[in-house]
Parts: sequence; structure tokens; C-alpha cells
Amino acid sequence: MSKPSFYITTPIYYPNDKLHIGHAYTTVASDTMARYKRLRGYDVYFLTGTDEHGQKIQSRAEQAGLEPKAFLDPIIEWIQALWKKLDISYDDFIRTTEERHEKVVADIFERLLAQDDIYLSEYEGWYCTPDESFWLERELKDGKCPECGREVQFVREASYFFRMGKYVDRLLQYYEDNPGFIEPVGRKTEMIKNFIEPGLQDLCVSRTSFDWGVHVKSDPKHVVYVWLDALTNYITAIGYGSDDPEAKAKFEKYWPADVHVVGKDIVRFHTIYWPIILMALDLPLPKKVFGHGFFLAKGGKMSKSKGNVIDPLQLIDRYGRDAFRYFLMREIPFGQDGVFTPEAMVDRLNYDLANDFGNLIHRTVAMLHRFYGGAIPVPAGLTDEEEALISLAAQTRELVERYMDEMQFSLALSEIWNLVRRGNKYIDECQPWKLHKEGQTERLQTVLYHMAEVIRLATIMVQPVMPDAPKVIRRQFGWTDEEFAWTALNIGAGVGGRRVAEGEPLFPRLDVEKEIEALTEMTTSTVPNQQAAKDTSGQQAKAAEKGQDKSGAKPQIGIDVFDQVELRVGQIKTAAKVEGADKLLQFQIDLGSETRQIVSGIAKYYAPEDLIGKKVIVVANLKPAKLRGVESQGMILCASEGDALTIATVPDSMPNGAIVK
Ligand code: MSP
Repeated sequence: MSKPSFYITTPIYYPNDKLHIGHAYTTVASDTMARYKRLRGYDVYFLTGTDEHGQKIQSRAEQAGLEPKAFLDPIIEWIQALWKKLDISYDDFIRTTEERHEKVVADIFERLLAQDDIYLSEYEGWYCTPDESFWLERELKDGKCPECGREVQFVREASYFFRMGKYVDRLLQYYEDNPGFIEPVGRKTEMIKNFIEPGLQDLCVSRTSFDWGVHVKSDPKHVVYVWLDALTNYITAIGYGSDDPEAKAKFEKYWPADVHVVGKDIVRFHTIYWPIILMALDLPLPKKVFGHGFFLAKGGKMSKSKGNVIDPLQLIDRYGRDAFRYFLMREIPFGQDGVFTPEAMVDRLNYDLANDFGNLIHRTVAMLHRFYGGAIPVPAGLTDEEEALISLAAQTRELVERYMDEMQFSLALSEIWNLVRRGNKYIDECQPWKLHKEGQTERLQTVLYHMAEVIRLATIMVQPVMPDAPKVIRRQFGWTDEEFAWTALNIGAGVGGRRVAEGEPLFPRLDVEKEIEALTEMTTSTVPNQQAAKDTSGQQAKAAEKGQDKSGAKPQIGIDVFDQVELRVGQIKTAAKVEGADKLLQFQIDLGSETRQIVSGIAKYYAPEDLIGKKVIVVANLKPAKLRGVESQGMILCASEGDALTIATVPDSMPNGAIVK
């Protein structure tokens, strides 16, 4: 019987700059799903690629003094190298500048024109060049782009438009008939309320003000405007519109896509415009669009154009791709936003990988060698302990499958770790060292076998997330293909009697302070996107550096959350520069009952001697952190705007240590 097919896509990324951790997040999540489906016996086709046309690319190439293609090629190479480094198992990488794509886009445009789905008119309105999006007057926020907060230009030019209105009822019907089409479900409500109910505007599908794109055959001064061009990659890559029989067969096999994985920023294009384009082409619609949340940097949105990016390469180089991928998939529930913090990353790697999984493997291998000559025993009789473990394993498998099918990667991992932790507990409770000492050989055999079985199960299930460690563990334990198949995910399917190799710990324990310091350094640098940062307006770039979102606003919190912050009046006793760190000042601050050392990045704004004696507000219950090797036991509050910064001060009459609220 032929395998069922599974077609999964990532967005095609804009190669106007290097990619950051957010792009890696989408791609790793898609790869995790692709790997999982392969393990479950699907014939998977996994597509990624780059979105290479448009005004932004054209002007970036011009700035660099290069032809667009010459500008793009090294960036594409860089992106592909990043995916290689992350072991992204894509089957195809489409570049929208490839002939297989451009030719079909031009044909599609002509067909839609002939069908009267597309008509020529004049565009008049607001345009955000960095986002390549058009906005209505009412959609602007304070006269700026509602998506990125940057300046918009008023443009008027002849453009072709797609008649969207014609298909809206069918689209809404599709939503209703296919409740799983948009996930998480909340995004569907958003789409209907924000875009469909106010009246869906026709989509502008051509431009004449730049020419880096697919030229309209019948009217070549127009180039196909980016979204019609970009979205179509999902079908051109698998052979739509090609005359080649092999390509045609591929399209028949894989279309409609099982899931388009996208960030929440482009859900609108994938759940409104894309289905409508497909309806006009008489093609079936994708089964699902999953709009995941955003990776935020310290309370703010991270984006290429803002410059507050986290470079995935540095993290992979330091921790390895397994750890990096594990962190991405475990830390944030897929669908929600999450904030990257160095503390969370170090905790995950230390607790989950080193303490839980690493330890289980390490202890088991050591005990197999110490008590059983390095082999996995054949089990003897089972007790309640084993029965409980067996049933937990069965339940884990069921839940992991459910969550993976739902793309709830963090929940699936949490279940696997529940089993791993139970495995460690099982060892503590059964005390193999005692069984050995007491000569309870049969019981010892059973326990050692079950320890190895928990590892086998966890290792199989973790494969979609980690491409490397499971291979090493498998080699170490010598499991065969049958034992290592997803279908062998039950305790008892592992065969006893085989030798296990001794090995190095796979997940080393990290020095918390050292790593937090290193991560803080890495994740506050703006190196990969300096150019992009320059493109943003000065004020926004500043906010971006500080990790705020475009308005600087943060989500609302309750008084209970605010109450957790201890603010106190402190008096600066000493102030000095931190050696080797231009930005930092180091203070001794009198908090009434104690003196605290605090390090603050305000050297640019104040001479140390000007601050002595000042009464300031201190966040007194902030976890200590090391900045450039100097411990900081709190934080001083400052106000900042643009290039200016002022320490928040309190009148001298207020005693040191007084509570601020
Ligand atoms: N080229 C378009 C997509 C066309 S798809 C037919 C585009 N490209 S992009 O490079 O700007 O971003 C693509 C995707 O990157 C986002 O949809 C999202 O999946 C991912 N992310 C970009 N920044 C992100 C975060 N900070 N966090 C998580 N994902 C983010 O839009």
C-alpha cells in the first residue's frame, strides 16, 4: 500500500537580510512536524524557500551597488547554510526567482485576467515599503503603518486588482465547513472581525514603480506584486502549471497542502487571499494554516527591520543544534508569543537535558556496566512498579501522538519528560545497587531492563525535535530498526541481551552564571541586522534595542503581578566605571538596612561623580545577574526617550529603604 502523503510548508523568507531566531523558530517547528510525520509512515514533502522579488530587495541591491540576483545569491547561500546547520530536512527549496516559479506566476496572472478576476485600475493610498503592504487611511495607527509603526508613503499608480469580494461567501463557508483550517482558532475570529466584516478590499496585485519582479506578459510595465507572486510558490514548487509529467504527478500527489506553517503576522495573507486565489484557479484549498506566535526579546517584538534580533548561529555554535531546537520547541506553547530569556534557556538545558534525560542515560549505562557486565538483561517477573511504568509509557505515547498531530510541540515534549522523570524516580525507588548487593538477580534484571526501555521510548519520541542525540543513543544501545520504530513504542518491544557501549555524557551541565552572562551578551547585540536597524526611524530603533514593542507598550498586568516587584529608595554611595565595559557604571547603594552593588548601563549619560549622594529607585528583588563579570544585585529605574536618559530620583527627605509603590 502506498504511504499517505503529507505536504508541509514554511513561509518563504525575505532574503533582504540574514535570518534571526524567529525565522529559525518557524522552520524548526515545520521540520519537527515533517520528521514526526515521516516517523509515522507518511510520504512527506517539506518545502521552504525565499521570497526574492519586490521593491525592498531592489533598493537593497541598489544600495549595495549590485544587480538583485548578485545581491541575493550569497544571502540565499547563508540561509541554506543555516538550515543545514539546524539539519532542516526540507525536500525542496524554492526561490521565487527560479524559472519554474516565474513562468507559472506570469501564466496564472494572464488566466486570472482573462477570467476577469483581475482588473486594471488605479491605486491610491498608503504604502509601507519595508512591509510591502498597502493600508487604508482608517487602518493606519497614528498615521503610521499598523504592522510595524514606520512611516508610510501616499502612492498613486496604475495597478491591477484582484476582485476579492466575489469569493468572500465561499471563503466563509470554507471556514465553517473546516473548523481546523485556521489554528489556533482565535486567529480565525481575528481574521473575520478585522478584515472580512469591515468589507474585504480588492487586493492590489501589480506595481509599476519598480521592476524587480515577474513582468505581466500582456502589460510588461507592471510587475506582479509580491503576495500573489509569493503565495503561489506553494504550488509552483510542486509542479503546478508545468508541462513535465513528473512535475504534474508530484502536484497531484501532494496538493492540497496539509499545513502551511506561518507566523501570526502573515496569517491574513494565508487564510484570506491565498484561499481566494486558489478558488479562482479552481484548486482545492490547504487543509490547515497554523499561525504561531512570536519570539519576543525582553518584552518586545523581534524583527529584522527593527534590529533587536537574536542570531541563531551563535546559540547553535555554543549549545549545539539539539539543545537549541529543544529549547525552541519546549519553551513556548506553539501558537502563543513567548519571551526569550537567557535564564529560561539555561534552565531548560540544565534541568531537562542534563539533569533529567542525560542523567537517566548516564545512570542506566553505568549500572548496566557495574551490575550486569554492560548488557541489557532479559526481564524476569514484573511487579506493580513495572506495571505502573508500562501504563504511563502507553499513556505518554498516546498523548505525544495527540499533541504532535495538533502541533503542540511543547506539550508533547512535556509528556516525554514526564516519562523520563518517572524513569529516574523508578531507579531511586527500585534501588538497583541494593538489589545487586542483596543478590536479587532476577529483580535486578527486570529493573535494569525497564530503565533501558524508558530510554528507548523517550529517544524514539524525541527524534522529531533532536536530529543528533537519538542517533548517538541508539548506536550506544544497539537498537535495531524494529526496536527503534515508532510502532515499537511500548515497553517490552526492546530485546534484552545486547551489549551497551559506555559513552560520554550527551548533555553537559552548564555553569549557570557563566552562560547567563554569555547569553545576555549574545542576545543584546544587534550585529546581524545593523543595516536593518539603521532603516528604522531613530526612536523605534532605540526602543528595539531595549526590547520593547513598537509603542513601548507591554501587556496589561494585574496588581498581584505588580506587587511582586519590590521598589525601594536607595542612595548612591559610590559610583565607578566598570573596567573594560564602556557602557557600564558600578554603584554601591545604601538601601537602609543593607548596601547593594548594582551595575547599570548608563555610563554614556552620567559621569560617576555626578551621581554620588543621589536618591534613586531600586528594583530590590531582582535576581542578581553578572554583567561583564560584576555582580549586580538589583536595578536602578531610569526614564528614557530617544537619545535621552535620566535616572528617576526621589526627594532627599525620603529615607533610604523606603518602599516605592
Ligand atoms: N516573505 C514573506 C512570507 C511569504 S510566504 C508566502 C515574509 N517573510 S519574512 O521573512 O518577513 O517572515 C516570514 C516568517 O518568519 C514569519 O511569518 C514568521 O513565521 C517568521 N518570523 C519572523 N519573525 C519572527 C519572530 N520574531 N518570532 C517568530 N517568528 C517570526 O513575511
